[in-house]
Amino acid sequence: MEIFIRRTANEIGDFAANMIEPFVKQGATLGLATGSTPSPTYQALIRKHREEGLSFADCDAFLLDEYYGIDQHHEQSYWSTIRRELTASIDIDDAAVHSLSSSAADPEQEAATYESMMKDAGGVDIQLLGIGANGHIAFNEPTSSLSSRTRLIDLRPRTIADNARFFDSEDEVPRQAMTQGIGTILEAKKILLIATGAAKAEAVQAMIEGPLSSFCPASSLQMHNDVCILLDEAAASGLGDVEFYKEIDAYWR
Ligand code: GLP
Repeated sequence: MEIFIRRTANEIGDFAANMIEPFVKQGATLGLATGSTPSPTYQALIRKHREEGLSFADCDAFLLDEYYGIDQHHEQSYWSTIRRELTASIDIDDAAVHSLSSSAADPEQEAATYESMMKDAGGVDIQLLGIGANGHIAFNEPTSSLSSRTRLIDLRPRTIADNARFFDSEDEVPRQAMTQGIGTILEAKKILLIATGAAKAEAVQAMIEGPLSSFCPASSLQMHNDVCILLDEAAASGLGDVEFYKEIDAYWR
């Protein structure tokens, strides 16, 4: 794991966008995340599109996950969120932005179809990830198999409570979601995980310095050979070896 610590979420957004840019120029398959964490990265990519002419026309994209049991056009569906946050503001073909259905009658079939679409696209070249306060990645909650594939999953109370801020009340947060599995995510060629804020410090520590455990799904990234973790000071505050990570980073800068 390569660990980079920056002062602010905006600095991290610029850093992440600079890492993603060469992939965009090659017409890569992008793995997109939702949630609040990637917003500064998406803002930076939109700026590059508008001010520097970065074109996404040759890219396609796969979303990590989607709430299950809400209308696709609900403003908090991940289908709507990614359009609002990124894809409506760049020149990617809307038909090339793939997401899991929020209402598939047969979730197993939906999951299998999604996996084969990803395979046909040659797999994800660069996957952007956030992390849940309980260590989840996408919607792979603690105890998810480290080799899990795309599927329907029940959300944990902590995740429902954390995501309630996006809805009018906690009761409105869907109780289930479709998510790429941990095994699916680990097939991405490169992974970029971003965590900001003190609420993520414990999960970040477990992901980087804790044991490989399904109880912290993000610890599965220890098994991947091309992972960059971008943190702000608050998210990095629980790390035991923080000075070492900063030294290595400063050495290579
Ligand atoms: C959600 C998403 C995750 C995201 C996480 C953190 O549950 N399914 O993909 O990484 O929450 O969200 P945020 O970035 O808003 O803290």
